[in-house]
Amino acid sequence: MKKLFLGLTIIISAGILSAFYIPEKQSQNIKKDSSTSFVMPDSVKVVVDQSCYMCHNSNARGDAKDALNFDKLSSMKGPALVAHLQNIEKMVKHSWMPPRRFLSDHPEKALTEKQKQVLLDWVNAENNKLFSGN
Ligand code: HEC
Repeated sequence: MKKLFLGLTIIISAGILSAFYIPEKQSQNIKKDSSTSFVMPDSVKVVVDQSCYMCHNSNARGDAKDALNFDKLSSMKGPALVAHLQNIEKMVKHSWMPPRRFLSDHPEKALTEKQKQVLLDWVNAENNKLFSGN
């Protein structure tokens, strides 16, 4: 009876531990040295410069640069870079950026469908480079 109890305890703790271990393992699949090859293609830079950079750079005022700073993106690596890329993807996909209030004064800064696709393709390509594919 004692042995059975001990066995159960081990199985249950192993289950609990593995629940914590899985996210850890996934983040290990991200290549840690990825930043060395991180260069934004010109086609992407043009879009970012037109519609994003003026709020998301080191000298910008307000919350935007804390949320995303394109001056710092290229020196990010691993999980931090993945998180930023995912945020960019989310904002672009849902047309949440540039902010609607800003666009009502600057309609020419709105992303066209083609420009959105340029950004999304780039995020995808970077993600593929970051994950080692398992
Ligand atoms: C007029 C200024 C402005 C422009 C232009 C702008 N943003 Fe933002 N952005 C903000 C502000 C302010 C925040 C932080 C507050 C918020 O999330 O609304 C933000 C937040 C973000 C975040 C973080 C969201 C989160 O949930 O953490 C991302 C990613 C982002 N912007 C991407 C972009 C991209 C991509 C573009 C260009 C297509 C862009 N932004 C253009 C002002 C701007």
